[in-house]
Amino acid sequence: MPFTFHPIDESSARAVLAWRYPPPYEVYNEDPAHSEQVVQEVLRPDYHYYRMAEGDDPLIAYCCFGPDARVTGGDYALEALDLGLMVRPDLNGRGRGHKFAAAVLEFAQRSFPHKVWRVTIAEFNQRAQRVWQKLGFRRVQVFARCGDGLPFGIWILNGKHRGAAGGSQRTWKGWGAPRVTGPTNRI
Ligand SMILES: CC(C)(COP(=O)(O)OP(=O)(O)OC[C@H]1O[C@@H](n2cnc3c(N)ncnc32)[C@H](O)[C@@H]1OP(=O)(O)O)[C@@H](O)C(=O)NCCC(=O)NCCS
Repeated sequence: MPFTFHPIDESSARAVLAWRYPPPYEVYNEDPAHSEQVVQEVLRPDYHYYRMAEGDDPLIAYCCFGPDARVTGGDYALEALDLGLMVRPDLNGRGRGHKFAAAVLEFAQRSFPHKVWRVTIAEFNQRAQRVWQKLGFRRVQVFARCGDGLPFGIWILNGKHRGAAGGSQRTWKGWGAPRVTGPTNRI
């Protein structure tokens, strides 16, 4: 069943912020103490949050495009579209990650003008790394998140290497090993 994308509304925003991921993915759980503020951020038009539907199921994941997909402390100087994806907890770990992420990438490629796409992934999260790596993304930077020091990686897909079409495993010559950086206190 194809996925469809819909600008997120308030009730969907509240629903996704209540999702709870089991360890070790609990770092993605929203703190209820901040939920009102986060709902307003998710509804900001410039953050481009969408809910994803599949058939009769109106909310199987949500995604965002742009600055809210970044993590503080990373170097985002390169012009690229940042992608964020969160699949509903009960649908995790069933081998469909590639399909979800490929749909998000294809939506980004037809909806935004960018030719470089970027995801930021916690270093411990090998499941998410594997999904994006299979789409052709390559890690170019590792950094410590501002505040708690949790290590994250920045992964890039260049327009010359369109992973959504085939999930190529080719490496991007010239990137070499990821650059390791510390916090920059960027907000
Ligand atoms: C990240 C996410 C999109 C992955 O989708 P998914 O459907 O759960 O992933 P899959 O079950 O397809 O697993 C993806 C791959 O990781 C592998 N994998 C699963 N658990 C793993 C683990 N603990 N360590 C290493 N690899 C793992 C799977 O075998 C699969 O590899 P394959 O495609 O070669 O078979 C989804 O889990 C999600 O949105 N989770 C929400 C929390 C989160 O992690 N967010 C990430 C923000 S960047």
